[in-house]
Amino acid sequence: MIGNDTHVRNNRTRWNEISDDYQRFNAPQIREQAFTGDITWGVWGIPESRLNILGHVVGLDVLEMGCGGSQWSTALARRGARPVGLDLSERQLHHSRTLQRETGLDFPLVQASAEDVPFANGTFDIVFADHGAFSFADPYRAIPEAARILRPGGLLAFGHVSPIYEISIADGAEAAGDRLVGDYFGLRLISDTDGLVSANLPYGAWIRLFRDSGLLVEDLVEPQPESGPGGSHRDSAEEAWARRWPSECIWKVRRA
Ligand SMILES: C[S@@+](CC[C@H](N)C(=O)[O-])C[C@H]1O[C@@H](n2cnc3c(N)ncnc32)[C@H](O)[C@@H]1O
Repeated sequence: MIGNDTHVRNNRTRWNEISDDYQRFNAPQIREQAFTGDITWGVWGIPESRLNILGHVVGLDVLEMGCGGSQWSTALARRGARPVGLDLSERQLHHSRTLQRETGLDFPLVQASAEDVPFANGTFDIVFADHGAFSFADPYRAIPEAARILRPGGLLAFGHVSPIYEISIADGAEAAGDRLVGDYFGLRLISDTDGLVSANLPYGAWIRLFRDSGLLVEDLVEPQPESGPGGSHRDSAEEAWARRWPSECIWKVRRA
């Protein structure tokens, strides 16, 4: 279930290595929601209450694909959902368990790859991720798996780096520039400078993959940074970029 493909092995090793730093660095943005129950989406931290991606979750079976420290699943548990957190990295799941002890909110945690998940067909009402497994797993395996474990009418929602942002980052650069430099049609598995392998597709390929997996596209939300306090902790050049172009997007697709 963990998988032995090079990109999966590589990403598991890297996420185990960087997990402690990731949790420490991102805590100011991602931790609070576990205590308030008010989840936020993406690097710009836009609240679910404004985007309404997941909608009502009370009593629903929800799988977070690539849950990391489970801040989102914890928030959803607070809101009455029945979450399951799945992640490839044992160190990230260690942080999930620590959070469960702190909050007293307990739910199943599973170590597996999104490309091969240990659940029966039609187990979940919602499968979701925020810059989670769909940003790292091979889409041609992870999307059909998500579709398989959703109940008819179930929602797959995930936020990730936009394909446009992806092809605007030059080799070795940390952020996007104002020119297209990457191969749009070559997008699938991308070796990043930080040693991770990330995943993305051209927009048309995403749509065809959803359709071929029995998923109907409901929306493609392109969040932008909001002005005023309480947003992200990113630098202003990234914010300026994201005001002009879509830096990330959230797919909302439904099992037919
Ligand atoms: C950027 S973190 C996001 C976690 C959480 N949403 C957050 O923002 O803190 C991405 C997570 O995806 C997990 N991941 C990467 N590849 C995966 C795969 N193939 N299957 C499941 N999880 C994976 C990583 O271990 C990591 O915890």
